[in-house]
Amino acid sequence: MADLRVSLAGVEFKNPVIPASGTYGYGREYEALYPLSKLGGISVKGTTLHERNGNIPPRIAETPMGMLNSVGLQNGGAEKFIKYELPNLVTKDTRIVANIAGSTIEECAELAGMLNDTAVDMVELNISCPNVKAGGAAFGTDCTVAGAVTKAVRDACSKPLMVKLSPNVTSITEIAKSVEANGADAVSLINTLLGMRIDIKTRRPVLHNNVGGLSGPAVFPVAVRMVWQTANAVKIPVCGMGGISTAEDAIEMMMAGASAVQVGAAIFRDPYAPVKIIDGMNEWCDRNGIKAIKDIVGTVKPW
Ligand SMILES: Cc1cc2nc3c(=O)[nH]c(=O)nc-3n(C[C@H](O)[C@H](O)[C@H](O)COP(=O)(O)O)c2cc1C
Repeated sequence: MADLRVSLAGVEFKNPVIPASGTYGYGREYEALYPLSKLGGISVKGTTLHERNGNIPPRIAETPMGMLNSVGLQNGGAEKFIKYELPNLVTKDTRIVANIAGSTIEECAELAGMLNDTAVDMVELNISCPNVKAGGAAFGTDCTVAGAVTKAVRDACSKPLMVKLSPNVTSITEIAKSVEANGADAVSLINTLLGMRIDIKTRRPVLHNNVGGLSGPAVFPVAVRMVWQTANAVKIPVCGMGGISTAEDAIEMMMAGASAVQVGAAIFRDPYAPVKIIDGMNEWCDRNGIKAIKDIVGTVKPW
């Protein structure tokens, strides 16, 4: 049995595998299948200050080797998360990553502040959402705005802070450097890639929102590239995700520079995916004489 422990933003995880935000709810549906204590951690559904109903359906569509979604951050709001979901999660012996989002910098900061005196282990700030005060462009597509929202959340909240980057940018490394300079303890990437499909019979987009986020195996090479570039650009640890569905994918992502990984769309195909990936990583380490998984982080040998 290899040592699968990893450290991210100063927090120790028993293994590097974390179900990704929005693909695992708060874990309740999976508890019947396996103990959640098997997981390194859980990144909970994106929480906003107030309850949100999300976008109008259809908001999920299959694509070749992936899926498009425009769920739109449907969630019960911060108070419900803290009152009803967190007390259940803290009994599960796994790390709790509170994924948060907001429509303004002030909203993000207020929400982050509410988590100070809670049992969450880490805050993951999703900066892919539209910044209402800045005309709707996502926080994560502009270095200055990405830095400003990171700083506001950093000032409001003393929990370890991981900032989740959007891949819909020209230079992911510039954004990563800006959030690092403004107090992020780690970065996670990638969020979904903006996409669109059209039903040619009706000439309607398959999603009511017209556009949505692409995830699943189709995005894996893009995610590996961005994780590799980011890990080489910043000193803080990187949590890698985007299309991971096997232990080998997770190992590849760690070789690219990820200290831990998140698994999203793969869970919709196989709810056991995170556990199979953990077991598969253990077996891979044993077969390859790796004693500690952290030793493979960033070991890619570029040509
Ligand atoms: C249905 C769905 C809902 C998602 N909701 C969120 C969310 O609330 N917050 C967030 O930061 N990311 C959200 N994501 C993005 C995932 O956490 C992840 O970054 C992305 O899907 C790439 O990983 P994957 O290819 O393994 O799914 C969502 C993804 C999907 C498919």
